[in-house]
Amino acid sequence: MRTPRNGNWSWSVSALVALCLSTTVFTGVSQVAASPTPLRSSSSESRAPLLLGAAWYPEQWPEARWEPDLQLMESAGIHFVRVGEFAWSTMEPAEGEYKFDWLERAIALAAKHHIQVVLGTPTAAPPAWLTQKYPETLRINEDGRPDEHGNRQQFNWSDPKYRELAHDIASRMAECFGHNPNVIGWQIDNEYAEESYGPDDRQRFQQWLKSRYGTLDALNARWTTAYWSQTYTDWNQIPIETGYGNPGLLLNWKLFVSDTWRSYQKNQIDAIRSHADTRQFITTNMMGWFSGYDHYTVSPELDLAAWDDYVGEGHLDPVRNGAAHDLTRGFLGKSFWVMETQPGFVNWAKVNNTLNKGEVRAMAWHDLGHGADAVSYWQWRSALNGQEEYHGTLVGADGTPTPLYAEVAQLGREFAKAGPVLAGTSVHSEVAILHSYESRWAINWQRHNSDYDPVKELLSYYGPLRDYAQSIDVVSPDAPLSQYKLVVAPALNVIPEETAQKLIAYVRGGGHLVLGDRSGMKDADNALWPQRQPGPLADLLGGRVEQYYALEAPVEVLGNFGQPASMRAKQYANLWAEQLSVKAPDTEVLLRYAKSNGWLDGQPAAITRRVGKGRITYIGASLDSKAMAAAANWMVRTSGVTRALGPVPASIDVYPRSGGDRLVYILVNFGKKTETVDLPSEMTDILHDSKVRRLTLQQYDVAVLQTAARH
Ligand code: GLA
Repeated sequence: MRTPRNGNWSWSVSALVALCLSTTVFTGVSQVAASPTPLRSSSSESRAPLLLGAAWYPEQWPEARWEPDLQLMESAGIHFVRVGEFAWSTMEPAEGEYKFDWLERAIALAAKHHIQVVLGTPTAAPPAWLTQKYPETLRINEDGRPDEHGNRQQFNWSDPKYRELAHDIASRMAECFGHNPNVIGWQIDNEYAEESYGPDDRQRFQQWLKSRYGTLDALNARWTTAYWSQTYTDWNQIPIETGYGNPGLLLNWKLFVSDTWRSYQKNQIDAIRSHADTRQFITTNMMGWFSGYDHYTVSPELDLAAWDDYVGEGHLDPVRNGAAHDLTRGFLGKSFWVMETQPGFVNWAKVNNTLNKGEVRAMAWHDLGHGADAVSYWQWRSALNGQEEYHGTLVGADGTPTPLYAEVAQLGREFAKAGPVLAGTSVHSEVAILHSYESRWAINWQRHNSDYDPVKELLSYYGPLRDYAQSIDVVSPDAPLSQYKLVVAPALNVIPEETAQKLIAYVRGGGHLVLGDRSGMKDADNALWPQRQPGPLADLLGGRVEQYYALEAPVEVLGNFGQPASMRAKQYANLWAEQLSVKAPDTEVLLRYAKSNGWLDGQPAAITRRVGKGRITYIGASLDSKAMAAAANWMVRTSGVTRALGPVPASIDVYPRSGGDRLVYILVNFGKKTETVDLPSEMTDILHDSKVRRLTLQQYDVAVLQTAARH
């Protein structure tokens, strides 16, 4: 029996043996050993509450090397390895010839070192024999040429033959490892990204459009194809456009892409689920702000959301990165995993500088603070050859620790200490920011001001709001909203009728909805709402956008959201300004433009209206940081939002996590200066086993504080 390092789990290593002993299995009648009764049926009992991991590629190393690596991982407190996600040519070296014995032995050896395994399906890297025999499985680039071997992600996500082969390899893996007690979960594929633009893909897109619209008349009407004589009289005439095209066509292609990733993923989920214990979770590794597909479409069939969190060049920006964590947490509305993160530096940025000493640890705590339950480093060790030789690792080419190893080992000790306290806790926020892929795509296709970036716009709200509330959810407009005191929708450009009705109900139910500029301009087909902005919400607002202006230079805005005169500083609209009008007698003006292009002079820039106990506000300008700070302060005050912990110095990030009767605050100092924090009450400092009322935190210092939950 193994001794639990953390938590109360225990199981027998000998149980690992004999699950998939057939080392070579030929296609046709499955000769994989019949699966024994599952050893456990519930999912979390065997996992440490906070997990530290690494991406490990045993197929790249002689077996004699495995044990020293696993030994070093164990000493660092690493709980799990992710294995297999690019190993198809090792698992199936020739068609129908399956070799899983090496993986079986790697998993067993990991178990011996108390390291659990997340298995990746290897479909992001099909073997050369496969695409040689089935060339139709190669994706077609936008220039019409098939992708080739030499890199990865060369497969076509919509091709039926590729689906069949992907289903097969995922099933074979699940038959072998679906009951393996040391396998805790699955990652499907790796970072879905590349689409395919071949004639078959186009046909599938056309079929998809047919089932969405039913008739060409409906499609033509919704896309206004009379424009430029685009009227379609045959489904086969409809092209694929990705950059400049009819906005309805562009949006539908992305919706098709998203649905196709969903079915691509479901194909493998089904394969795994037919063989695996339900305790084994299924996830995939997403990519933060990446907008290649709608993650809200793809996520619901997963058990767990996960993402790959890379800083790249420079240093951690806790606002941008924190919002990406909150975004990922919003995919399933619960704690998530950081499936990959950089051990110091990457190899793909312009300058691949390293994170400072202490920054990797601070970043890991920032991850946990935003609701991650696992942080896993990519990668353990660089292959001796391969595209990523320069990437940061935890051991060097000689197999001994890099300087960063000790910092990660410190995290291993800290995760073990804080795990029981953070177990079962997650992030609960009073404020939600709405994020929509449709809106981001719609704006990015027609930015109108090339510097206007919808993610930056979202972050301009997120940063100051987080300073006040200390916790924010980033969710889809389709998520439940009634639990939030404040819902903010920056640049929610596409608001379909159904979403509008939901937002109206939220306001009527007593919530405060703040719409940012460019909101409510488009409908579900990326067509203009005829009411002008904010479309179906204009009546509730009692006002609307008369005209929008891309700004050549900042325009001063006047009014200060009720802040005392002493706090007033000059404030500006940047990049974008909308001239608002007030239609209802009870709609108030919060902000006006100073003199600028004549059209905007003296006109409303932000308006608000009370609706029963609720409120709707429209901010028609992209505000600079001073104006946004005042706006955020006003938003939280009018909505009754409270700070999770209390005031702290600006460079200290506060992350509350709660669950049951436990409330835990993680604090990290990302500033250069040492700072002092006075706590509202005495708390238990978990990492130092002491009671504290006042804390001193140097740069990258971390505190994990437990207190009784608020009621
Ligand atoms: C991605 C991939 C990994 C690796 C890293 C390098 O996240 O998933 O396989 O290439 O980037 O940073």
